Amino acid sequence: MPFYKEIKINSTTTAYFWKISEDTEWLYENIQLNENSLSRLENMNSEEHKRGFLAVRMLLQHIGYTDFNLVYDTFGKPHLIKDIQKKSEYSSKQISISHSHEFSCICISNQNIGIDLEKRKEKTLKIAPRFMDICHLENLSEEDKIAKATVIWGVKESVFKLKNEKGISFPNHISEAPFQLMDKKGTTYLNFNETTQNFQFHFEFVDDYIFVCVLSCNTE
Ligand SMILES: CC(C)(COP(=O)(O)OP(=O)(O)OC[C@H]1O[C@@H](n2cnc3c(N)ncnc32)[C@H](O)[C@@H]1OP(=O)(O)O)[C@@H](O)C(=O)NCCC(=O)NCCS
Repeated sequence: MPFYKEIKINSTTTAYFWKISEDTEWLYENIQLNENSLSRLENMNSEEHKRGFLAVRMLLQHIGYTDFNLVYDTFGKPHLIKDIQKKSEYSSKQISISHSHEFSCICISNQNIGIDLEKRKEKTLKIAPRFMDICHLENLSEEDKIAKATVIWGVKESVFKLKNEKGISFPNHISEAPFQLMDKKGTTYLNFNETTQNFQFHFEFVDDYIFVCVLSCNTE
């Protein structure tokens, strides 16, 4: 299946999803890759990882960018550039990327953002005490516990991607205000380096996956 869907989060923030049914060869033949991407692709062992990586480039093409507009900083955070000759001059548009099994997702915004796409699975609930305050899971059905633990995992991964700073611990530095699954949004707090910042998060159910987007305020 080609392009799957888009979700508008606010007036300048949209997430785009690719549900991958194509094989690696087809994806490879339908995009142009820069040298860095070619070398990364060569070093990937898993076909699923390759397809996820290539589907991100399909999404970029779908919205009018190419792989040549995408650069990574030394921590691995992706950035868009306007002029492909000037790789150190980032565009004012921000990008965040996630892939999980048959889905790839990118989100573009005027704000600094972090996204995560995660399949719902029991394992996330099993390891929940290691990364979150399990009081969020009280009085929920088993199914909703899995969903909420997955949302909170996604929130923490997204804050991590937004901040892109070494030393952030999921259980010690990132927390969430109480929220309901039906809210599809909430507030998260990063208490790190002696300051507390709060961020809004949004989440959506996409097939059997949970998509999370964390947004900075415009001054971030
Ligand atoms: C980097 C990390 C966030 C990637 O998340 P993931 O769930 O493994 O994979 P995803 O598919 O969701 O995201 C991968 C994308 O994140 C982006 N990414 C990688 N490093 C990043 C960084 N430092 N900042 C922002 N984005 C980053 C990249 O675009 C990458 O995809 P690409 O290289 O193919 O373009 C994750 O591996 C990580 O290190 N998390 C923190 C670990 C941690 O503290 N765990 C504590 C558990 S208690």
